Amino acid sequence: MGAAGPAGAPQDRGPTAAAGCRMRMLALLCIASLWLGAAWAVPAREERRKAEKLNDDLELYDPDSYDLTLDNYGDIIDLSNYEELYDYGDFAPKVEVGTLAPRPKNPVALPTLGAVAEPMNPQPPSPPAPIPAQGLPSCLLCLCIDTSVYCDDADLEHIPLLPPETTYLYARFNRIGAIRASDFTGLKKLKRIDLSSNFISWADADAFHQLPSLQELLLPQNRLTALPELPPSIIRLDARLNRIPSAGLRHEAFRDLKQLQFLHLSDNQLDYIPVPLPQSLRSLHLQNNNIQTMLEDTFCDSQDHSQIRRALEDIRLDGNPINLSLFPNAYFCLPRLPTGRFS
Ligand SMILES: *[C@@H]1O[C@H](CO)[C@@H](O)[C@H](O)[C@H]1NC(C)=O
Repeated sequence: MGAAGPAGAPQDRGPTAAAGCRMRMLALLCIASLWLGAAWAVPAREERRKAEKLNDDLELYDPDSYDLTLDNYGDIIDLSNYEELYDYGDFAPKVEVGTLAPRPKNPVALPTLGAVAEPMNPQPPSPPAPIPAQGLPSCLLCLCIDTSVYCDDADLEHIPLLPPETTYLYARFNRIGAIRASDFTGLKKLKRIDLSSNFISWADADAFHQLPSLQELLLPQNRLTALPELPPSIIRLDARLNRIPSAGLRHEAFRDLKQLQFLHLSDNQLDYIPVPLPQSLRSLHLQNNNIQTMLEDTFCDSQDHSQIRRALEDIRLDGNPINLSLFPNAYFCLPRLPTGRFS
């Protein structure tokens, strides 16, 4: 990226950046960069401790060399580390951009986007806009950059009211307890929802179904016991580290999701591998569940021995009681054997 912040050389962050800010009196930019710097620092509070593991994972990787998006996700990536790579690989570059919040290209089309405001001291527009009944608009509570809304670590208990143009929502490390269908109504451009590390124990069954552009739904480290219905556009579902039993999945929940490539449900309470799995699937992470058995047809069609399922190259079943040696005819179509216990 090499995006020099408004203050000093890109190599000199921290104190130098703060001094540079003072010199140039760019108060708004300082607020933005310091605010982002605070969000980036290792959280100290007890309730943020769970963030540290994820932050540690991030530091193992250089974000610039793992600038993963769904568009450039290539064959060279080691899928076994996919979760750690992916979660924050796209976050760091956006933070750099965030030191200078761009003006909306078309302020008329984006009336509530592009604004930077301090949660403690919001600048009311004149005349003051009416505050919706649902609460403060998200761009006063959060940081809106173009059509991305950043609400990380903001003590939120509810999903804030989002601008209709929102494409990416990041609301990680909050105290959100439930997802309501009304939270996302009309957000036709929403592509990614990241609610990692909240207290979500309930999601309305139809909360995400009406989102025609949704590609990534990220709900790891919550308290879900059931998965809501997913839209056919979904490419990546991450619901690791929840409490989902097999009974919490809809019948044939993933069969008709023809775009689904990444299904990550590790560290839950699943008793079975959810079948049928769509042909588009590339990565299935089910480690650390309670899976004890499976069907010969779970991955491959036992009636068609010429079948090759090249896409499905990353299956993790380790940390389950299942003895994979008991199903010798279940893997013939796969490019690689699943990871797990073969003894
Ligand atoms: C797993 O299955 C294989 C093949 O039937 C068998 O030889 C092995 O003893 C089993 N392992 C355990 C721990 O049950």
